[in-house]
Amino acid sequence: MNSRIAGTGGYLPENVMTNADLEKIVETSDEWITERTGIRQRHIAVEGETTCDIAEKAARQAIDSAGLKPQDVDLIIVATTTPDRIFPSTACLLQQRLDIHGCAAFDVQAVCTGFVYALSVAEKFIRTGSATRALVVGAETTSRIIDWSDRTTCVLFGDGAGAVVLEATEAPGILSTHLHADGAYSDLLTVPEGVSQGFEKMQAGDAYIKMQGNEVFKMAVKTLGRIVDETLAANNMEKRDIDWLIPHQANIRIIKATAKKLNMSMDQVVVTVDHHGNTSAASIPLALDVAVRDGRVKRGETLLLEAFGGGFTWGSALLKY
Ligand code: COA
Repeated sequence: MNSRIAGTGGYLPENVMTNADLEKIVETSDEWITERTGIRQRHIAVEGETTCDIAEKAARQAIDSAGLKPQDVDLIIVATTTPDRIFPSTACLLQQRLDIHGCAAFDVQAVCTGFVYALSVAEKFIRTGSATRALVVGAETTSRIIDWSDRTTCVLFGDGAGAVVLEATEAPGILSTHLHADGAYSDLLTVPEGVSQGFEKMQAGDAYIKMQGNEVFKMAVKTLGRIVDETLAANNMEKRDIDWLIPHQANIRIIKATAKKLNMSMDQVVVTVDHHGNTSAASIPLALDVAVRDGRVKRGETLLLEAFGGGFTWGSALLKY
C-alpha cells in the first residue's frame, strides 16, 4: 500500500514581530538579520496560546482540504519540541480537541527534522496496513524556549503549525524517506536543561536554546547536500526530475546552498523563511501548504522535502504530490 498527501493546512499566530521590533529588544539591526538569515518577520504566539491551539487550526484545515471529517483519521502524529504538557502528548490533547477517540496518537521529537520523521513514521504505518488516514502535524511555540536577551538566537525563530493528511492509495505518493541522526553533536544546538535534571534547574532560567550558529550552519549545508544525493540515488532519479524543493526554513543561505547543489533555480524552491522565520518542525508543512494554496505545487509533481536540526537530526522525503 502506498500513501499520498490528501490535504494540507497551516496556521500562524496573529501576532507578528518584525526585525524593527527586535531592534528594540537586543543590539541588532534589520540589515544584519535580513542579510545573514533572510528573515524579515516571524509570528509569535500570544500569552496563553499553546502548541495544541495552533496545531488544531492547521489540523482542521488539512482534514477539510482532504475532504474528510476528523473521525476519518485513524492515526495522529504531532512533531513538536514545545509540547503543551510533559504529558499527555500534544497528539493526545489534539485528539481530544478534534473529538477523535481510540486511534493511536503520539508525539515525535526530532526538533527541526520532526515533520520529516513524523511523515516517515506515518508512511510506514500506512504501508504496513496499520493505518489508512494519518494526520501528521508539525507545531511549535519555539518562542517559549528562546532567551530574548540572546541576539544570536532570538532573531531566528518563530511559532506556527502545519499539517497534512496522509492517505492510503494504490498509486505511489511518498516515494522514499531517509532519516538520520548523530547525537555526538548534541551540544552545538540544544536546550540544555530537562525534566529529569529537576525542576529547580529549569526554573533557574536555563531552559532556553543555546546554539553555536557557525558550526550548525556548516554542518547543515554539508549534511543536506549529502542527503539530496542519497535521496536521488535511492529513487534512480536525476536532479532535473524534481519539480519543487520544499526545505526546512532556517536560513536563506542554507536553502540557497541546497538549491545550488540540486542545480535548481530559486523559482523552484518554496521560501517562507522571510515571513515565518524558523518554525522548527512546522516549517516544512507550512511551506508546503503555502505553495499548494497559492497554486505553485500541483498534483502529480515531484517534491523533495529536507530538514536539518538539533540532535543533530536530518532527513528527507521524496514524493509525488
Ligand atoms: N545582530 C547583530 N549582530 C549579530 C547578531 C544579531 N542578531 N547575532 C550575532 N551577531 C554578530 C556576532 O556577535 C558576530 O560579531 P563579531 O564578529 O563581532 O564576533 C557577528 O555578528 C558574526 O557572527 P556569526 O555567528 O559568525 O554570524 P554568521 O554569519 O554565522 O550568522 C547565524 C549567524 C546564526 C545567522 C548563522 O550562523 C546560522 O544561520 N546558523 C545556523 C542556525 C540555524 O539554522 N539553526 C537552526 C538549525 S535547524
